[in-house]
Amino acid sequence: MKKPLFSERTAWDLTENDLARDLGAARGEGRALVDLTESNPTRAGLADTAALVALLGDPRGATYAPIALGHPTARAAVASYYAERGLDLPIDRVALSASTSEAYGWLFKLLTERGDKVLVPAPSYPLFAFLAQLEDVELVPYPLMREAGFRIDLHALEAAIDEDTRAILLVHPNNPTGSFVRRDEAEALEAIALRHGLSIIADEVFGDYAFAGLPADRLPSFVGPRRALTFVLSGLSKVVALPQLKLGWIGVLGPDDVALEAMRRIEVIADTYLSVGTPVQLALPEILAARGPIQAAIRARTARNLVALDAALAALGAEASVRRLPVEGGWYAILEIPRTRDEDAWVQLFVRDEGIIVHPGYFFDLPDEGFLVVSLLPPEATFTAAITTVIRRLGEA
Ligand SMILES: Cc1ncc(COP(=O)(O)O)c(C=O)c1O
Repeated sequence: MKKPLFSERTAWDLTENDLARDLGAARGEGRALVDLTESNPTRAGLADTAALVALLGDPRGATYAPIALGHPTARAAVASYYAERGLDLPIDRVALSASTSEAYGWLFKLLTERGDKVLVPAPSYPLFAFLAQLEDVELVPYPLMREAGFRIDLHALEAAIDEDTRAILLVHPNNPTGSFVRRDEAEALEAIALRHGLSIIADEVFGDYAFAGLPADRLPSFVGPRRALTFVLSGLSKVVALPQLKLGWIGVLGPDDVALEAMRRIEVIADTYLSVGTPVQLALPEILAARGPIQAAIRARTARNLVALDAALAALGAEASVRRLPVEGGWYAILEIPRTRDEDAWVQLFVRDEGIIVHPGYFFDLPDEGFLVVSLLPPEATFTAAITTVIRRLGEA
């Protein structure tokens, strides 16, 4: 009997690592763990969104509307979301998807042949590796310079381009560094994209979450007039903190000829799956209109947690070898920590001794050892107690 074969692209090593084993053991013993990696906003005790979710039960959703790029009402709601920020995204340049992750898959299908390359920032969001592998795309990292506020190393980026490169991916603001792309970087990237015939993919899921007002030298959004073909991604996961609604979007910017050609092709890809639910599309205008208080609650939460983190650092005194890296936006903070142990050893120590879960920096491709990443979403009292413990222990090293 011959066994069926599985694809190489799904030949993942699914054995548990030490941390997963420690976590399993702690949970098995019934220990209460405090999760400072919690980034699921629906578990963070934020705004009450039950009424928004209930909109999906409206009878208007009872009739299936299979429209590939999205229901006109929903596409118009996305265009209005940008217009309210003074940004022009024409309705005919909006395509809905079930999530940003799905949109990445569609764009990789649109832009690449098997083995083609996409440039991605390092450090950044770990899911890219899987998204690319599933589409047979090779990711080529380009460095963000930590000591320069995570500015893009444009020379390294351009040097990494070869004839197989198809796109430059940006996360704006980046996860987990919280850094926004500067206006001069965006211009330089556009010039590089035009020189080499590349597209730009700008993931703006955290775009509404700047800590203080956005400094004048930062680009508010890639939505706007663009010289290079540019895809802007976002969605309800972060804009209204409801990932379970499963609605994201792609905004297609750039010269009319290439942008409209891209839209025509995306329409066929979207038509093949028709993955966005009708109820959520029809409710989108009301859902997006409700984002103000939800975003305000998240901004207040992350800002207060950042203050608590800084207070714990201040208590260590100026000589301490722990510091927080500057952050401009997003839901995360990065701690630079003593290199007396490697990152995994620190993470395990916190789980075993303190029942606290943090991310090692390498998980996000932070260079070198010596970083931990924490989510700023947990409830204030929980976060403050746990981060104070983490920072005190780091300070003792
Ligand atoms: C940078 C970034 N992009 C995309 C996503 C995923 O969003 P979605 O739920 O729309 O797939 C996340 C989720 O954390 C993210 O951090």
